[in-house]
Order: sequence, then C-alpha cells, then structure tokens
Amino acid sequence: MPTSSLRTQSATPMIIAMDGPAGSGKSTTARCLAERLKLPYLDTGAMYRSVTLVAMEQKVPFTDQKKLARIAAELPLRFGALKDGKQKVWIGERDVTADIRTPELTANVHHAASSPAVRKELVNLQRRVAQIDGGVIEGRDIGTVVFPKTPYKFYLDADVRLRARRRYNELLAAGVKADYEAVLKDQKIRDHRDSTRKVAPLKPAKDAILLDTTELTIPATADKIQDLILKIRPRRPAKSAKKGRRSA
Ligand code: DC
Repeated sequence: MPTSSLRTQSATPMIIAMDGPAGSGKSTTARCLAERLKLPYLDTGAMYRSVTLVAMEQKVPFTDQKKLARIAAELPLRFGALKDGKQKVWIGERDVTADIRTPELTANVHHAASSPAVRKELVNLQRRVAQIDGGVIEGRDIGTVVFPKTPYKFYLDADVRLRARRRYNELLAAGVKADYEAVLKDQKIRDHRDSTRKVAPLKPAKDAILLDTTELTIPATADKIQDLILKIRPRRPAKSAKKGRRSA
C-alpha cells in the first residue's frame, strides 16, 4: 500500500489517535504504523511514567499536586527515533527507557495519571509536539481529550486474559519473575483505575473506530488500520473559519 497516499490525504498534519487499555496491542501497532506511514510516534504513557520517576526519585509525595505539575511542566523529555521497533526515552541526558517500566513505577503511575494538574501540562506538551509534523499518538485520552478533532481515531481492546498473558510474556522475556494470576489481577486493577478516574478516563471517543485485537496479529491490526484510514475522509475546515491551521 503506498504510504504517501495516506499521508497526503490532508494538508494539515496527520494525527492518528490510538487509545485503549494496556496490553491491547496499541503500542506495538502504533509503532508499526508510524514506521509504515513515516510519521512520528508519540508514547504519551511514557510521559506520565517519566513524571512518576522524577517524583519517586525526588521523594515528592504523590498528593502534592503542585509539585507534580511543576515536574510535568519542566520535564526535559526526549524521545529517540524508533530502532528495531523500540523507542528510547531520555530525561535530559539520562536514558530512562528501562527505569520508567519497572513494576514499582508501574504500580505508582496512576497518581500522576489521575492528577488534573499533571494532565493539563502533559496534554499541552503532547499538542505542541504533535502539531508540528503530526504523528501516531498512543495513550488513553488522545481521541477524547488531546486531539478530539482528528478524524483518525482508533480504540484497541482485547480480552483481559489475553492482555494479561501478553504482559506476563513481556515480563518473562525481560527476565522478570512473574505469576500469571497476579499479572491478571493487576491488569484488572489498572483497567478499573484508568476507566473510572474522574479526569480523562479511558473510553473510546464517540467517533472512534473500535478494534478487537484478540484474534489479530500486530501486522494484521496495522493493515486493518491503514485500510480504514484510506476510507476516512478528513474534515475540511468551514469556509467561514478564521485563517490558519485547523488544529486536528
Ligand atoms: O500506556 P502506559 O501503560 O505506559 O501508561 C502508563 C500510565 O499512564 C497508565 O496508568 C495509563 C496512563 N496514561 C494516561 O492516563 N493517559 C495517557 N494518554 C497515557 C497513559
């Protein structure tokens, strides 16, 4: 499939919103799509994780909204180019790719994710970064909050047992001792927290396309999304709209 025909459908930067719960395959699919479409890839979960890492290391109490928000506002975050389907993350000069994915950090990231002040800062950052060249942006609220106007919204989901199995296999592959039933329980807790929090809960945007990836491989999911993108007509800005770029 010619990737250029996908990218030139719209004169505005192309924003592909990829939301869904952990283990739904959205991260790997988003990276795969970004490579195919030659678009930047943005992992917004890594941002909430980085705020959490700094807070933990600086012993900032998770209840201190002001300090958490300041960390988010001042975060010198850098993302490396995709290599072998993976992406490196730096805070300043420090490579934090592994540090932001430890089980301890994962258990604490919901504090930053449920803080309205942190979300405000990170949503601004996500908009600033993606409005330059567009991108495949993955998270929980990309279609509902960050880029609600993009016509390219996908919400990936899969059976919770399969998502837990994927996570369990990832942990084993990373050399982390894991127990499947514990991973499943943890997965259910995270799903509940993400979807019931007051601010920007995990849910599909009204006009998102829902994909169940339980029976799909990553390349098959990416193929499906590419086909769907071709069928989505980008909305034209209204004639009376003020000059300037339409935000996606
Ligand atoms: O996708 P992930 O597991 O790396 O996300 C880490 C945490 O951040 C998880 O609790 C969900 C939350 N998150 C969020 O609330 N909004 C986003 N746009 C991305 C992640």
